[in-house]
Amino acid sequence: MGKTIIISNRLPVQLQISNGTITATPSVGGLATGMKSVHSGSESLWIGWSGLTDEETPPELEDDIDKALAEQGCAKVNLNAQEIDGFYFGFSNRTVWPLFHYFLEYSEFELDFWETYKSVNQKFADAIIEQSDEDDTIWVHDYQLMLVPQMVREKRPNTTIGFFLHIPFPSYEIFRTLPWRKEVLEGLLGSDLIGFHTYDYERHFLSSVRRLLGLDVSFNDVYLDNRVIKVDSFPMGIDYKKFKDAAIMHDSKKSKERSDLQMRLDNHKASAPDTKLILSIDRLDYSKGIAKRLNAFEYFLKKYPEFKEKVRLIILAVPSRSNVPQYQLLKKEIDELVGRINGELSTVNWTPIWYFYRSLPFESLIDLYTSSDIAWLTPLRDGMNLVAKEYIATRTDQTGVLILSEMAGSAYEMNEALLINPNNFEEQADTLKQAFYMPVEEQISRNSFLQKRLERYNVEVWANEFMNALNEKRDIGKAFISE
Ligand code: ADP
Ligand code: G6P
Repeated sequence: MGKTIIISNRLPVQLQISNGTITATPSVGGLATGMKSVHSGSESLWIGWSGLTDEETPPELEDDIDKALAEQGCAKVNLNAQEIDGFYFGFSNRTVWPLFHYFLEYSEFELDFWETYKSVNQKFADAIIEQSDEDDTIWVHDYQLMLVPQMVREKRPNTTIGFFLHIPFPSYEIFRTLPWRKEVLEGLLGSDLIGFHTYDYERHFLSSVRRLLGLDVSFNDVYLDNRVIKVDSFPMGIDYKKFKDAAIMHDSKKSKERSDLQMRLDNHKASAPDTKLILSIDRLDYSKGIAKRLNAFEYFLKKYPEFKEKVRLIILAVPSRSNVPQYQLLKKEIDELVGRINGELSTVNWTPIWYFYRSLPFESLIDLYTSSDIAWLTPLRDGMNLVAKEYIATRTDQTGVLILSEMAGSAYEMNEALLINPNNFEEQADTLKQAFYMPVEEQISRNSFLQKRLERYNVEVWANEFMNALNEKRDIGKAFISE
């Protein structure tokens, strides 16, 4: 049996060059953090973009870059600035991302973006062909590479190819608006197995296949020429042990080993023991509902003024896709909202919102998760939302309240959380109040169910289930060919 080749636009690390030295930082986002755990424990090769354009890569450092990546089991696909513009900032993040997250009005249908998306997908497919053997198993990830399965299939008809979509697949009524809808479906159907986070996304996809391509679909099998493509849902888990162990380690740290952030959080607890910390962590993305959350927080404080000086909202927003105009506008909107709300409601002793716009190291995420009484995550649409799962995994004493949008894929598996509709301010204000007063016994009872489920269905189990289903397809295919 051959090896597994993982392909995604983002590699688990992002390279930067400063003063002729290469540095690598971990990539942010569910795909990278989840797959990193799967990749590190296996013999797989991970192919993707390094984060540097050709123009940013000095030719004399090419070999060093390849070596640095090879040490991590990775290989890069070279992309120039124009390709990144049309493929990544363009079709991936100005066309597909908004459309698949139901932001129809943000989605731009530009022929140039589409052309570059096609040619860059071909580059990824060529890199796979070059770096893999016929008996290797190919696992393609996410919306940036939806044409790759078919492109690989054309050159390697018998190779086993899996595809996993990390974002929602929208309903047929939304998807049908895409001018290149057929090409995208045909690209995906080059796979043997197509996976989604939830049963709903799977159904939406099958409905589009049936209605747009007129193909036969039986249960979750699609019939195309002489092939049967299996479609299924695999809700992605987290590296539960990594988060739990990090939280245990964090709890055992002596005071002098504590980070500056942790000391600030500790001081907060000591000086205002009755005040509760409410945490939200997201990439700065309109799909995450950050601006609405800020408005809902203001509404909550106006509806229940008794909570003034009793709660503090920590917003950690990680910079993301800052060349895309919608993200620039959102950044401005959030800066203004935080300024206005803090300006209007702060008192001498209290600032309602602490706002961080940066990427923090893993240890700081753990500081935040473990110090916060409530996690409040309000995406308007989210394929999964791993932050919700990570928060629960770090709660070593099983206290803490998770308030989670029902529009997140993770809500399907996290029924014991307080589920809310992010557009309903009334409901959110009442839920924040409920969270504030929730008895400790109830918190422990809810979280123990959640933790058991997350521990059992962790990211390794998720990857194994996907790979087992893919291998099963390969074995059936081989038996069929040899008949
Ligand atoms: P998305 O994939 O849309 O960004 P998820 O919630 O599924 O949303 O995944 C976000 C991932 O990024 C989580 O695994 C989280 O730990 C990680 N992450 C979020 N913020 C930071 C940060 N500031 N620094 C490092 N990693 C982060
Ligand atoms: C989501 C997507 C990933 C993407 C990540 C970060 O999780 O599903 O494919 O890598 O966001 O976004 P970025 O544009 O920085 O890669």
